[in-house]
Amino acid sequence: MDTETAMTHDLSPPGAAPDPVTFRRALSRVPTSVVVVSAMHDGHPVGMLVGTFTSVSLTPLLVGYLGDRGSSTLPALLRAETISFSVLRETDLRTVTAFRRPREARFQDVSWERDRQFGSPVLTGAPLVVFGRPWAQTDAGDHVFVVAEVLAVRTNGPARPLVFCGGRLTRMDPGHMVDNDIWQLGWHE
Ligand SMILES: Cc1cc2nc3c(=O)[nH]c(=O)nc-3n(C[C@H](O)[C@H](O)[C@H](O)COP(=O)(O)O)c2cc1C
Repeated sequence: MDTETAMTHDLSPPGAAPDPVTFRRALSRVPTSVVVVSAMHDGHPVGMLVGTFTSVSLTPLLVGYLGDRGSSTLPALLRAETISFSVLRETDLRTVTAFRRPREARFQDVSWERDRQFGSPVLTGAPLVVFGRPWAQTDAGDHVFVVAEVLAVRTNGPARPLVFCGGRLTRMDPGHMVDNDIWQLGWHE
């Protein structure tokens, strides 16, 4: 028998949902991307790491993320006219360290630039940058589901994105390079 499927655990009492800590630990088994969502605020870049960036709609083109209501950065992001999403590469561990600092210090030691067209800050060399205009905010419990209309999308070379899973940063298979022009469904060894 496959050892990865040998044991199943019911994490909640019969007929009840699990407690929040158990829920959070269980859901950490779902891998996420690591993305910096950022904007200009009072002439300075503001931003935070999110693991909840996702595509939302094709008609119209929408993306979104979940912002923690407790975040001190979120109000500035919600008020911005344009926001940027910079996807991190597997080699961007220093960026993660920088964005775990207080919000005033986050852009000090990372390479970033203000986009000429949209004015919002982006991380230099990010494999994918999406520019968006806030489109809707939906209540999502202790988070806000922020939806943005896509203004532009830029890719930058082949890359492997950074992955967050099991409560830690990890990588994709080294043989799997994500390229701009490849679109294949199915399993590839
Ligand atoms: C891998 C990772 C993923 C995260 N995902 C989210 C997220 O999806 N939404 C969010 O609001 N905060 C997320 N955070 C926490 C934020 O980056 C930020 O630290 C937190 O919202 C506190 O905000 P503030 O420091 O701006 O006050 C994540 C942090 C890490 C390290």
